[in-house]
Amino acid sequence: MTETSTSSPSSLSPLSAPSAAAFEGDGGGAAPLRVAVIVGSNREGRFGPIVAEWLLARVRERSDLTVDVIDLAASDLPTSLSFNPPAAVAAELAKVTPKLAAADAFIVLTPEYNHSYPASLKSLIDWHKDEWEAKPLAFVSYGGLSGGLRAVEHLRPVFAELHTMTIRDTVSFHNAGALFDDQGNHRDPSAADAAAKAMLDQLAWWAWALRAAKAVRPYGS
Ligand SMILES: Cc1cc2nc3c(=O)[nH]c(=O)nc-3n(C[C@H](O)[C@H](O)[C@H](O)COP(=O)(O)O)c2cc1C
Repeated sequence: MTETSTSSPSSLSPLSAPSAAAFEGDGGGAAPLRVAVIVGSNREGRFGPIVAEWLLARVRERSDLTVDVIDLAASDLPTSLSFNPPAAVAAELAKVTPKLAAADAFIVLTPEYNHSYPASLKSLIDWHKDEWEAKPLAFVSYGGLSGGLRAVEHLRPVFAELHTMTIRDTVSFHNAGALFDDQGNHRDPSAADAAAKAMLDQLAWWAWALRAAKAVRPYGS
């Protein structure tokens, strides 16, 4: 669990407000936005990597985004939290925390388990705090009839608590297993591709805007 900061928010005074000119330009540098794609499922025999590869191909097509993958099957965070984790837990955190900290934006890829999201995701969320703050986060979901949308709607208030800006548009795959062929290609990709473009455009807009704003004024100050 990362240490929490306890700074108290102050009101926006005219003297400390950034000028409109501060928001002009390229959003805090011409560097592409860093997006961390979080693969939430860690179940043996999981379907998640099929959807993840589809998503990663869409993100990698864009020149405004670079991508880091955080695959929760490759880390093993315990559910018991600690401010002084033992070395073994610190080693697991070292696999994920730097990527979360470096990200300008997140995409959470979540299946639906029992009308909600998997415990692996809650564990990753709760082990961190400041890493989530004042950054945009989009969802790609999959599952049975509901396409994972109940998992997404459960995650939104969790991220609101962490001051994370969740993106309105989602990409969801209903009865996901039937939508992809044996090579992992979407059988009828046009609607999903259009949904991904809308979602990524919104994510990039928010990431750009928040990076520019944070460059002139720390969040909450
Ligand atoms: C424990 C468990 C609970 C599930 N509950 C739901 C559910 O409530 N609604 C749904 O649409 N699909 C449900 N499913 C189906 C999964 O969403 C679907 O199998 C998905 O592919 C799981 O992702 P994964 O294979 O990457 O773990 C459930 C699957 C599991 C393993």
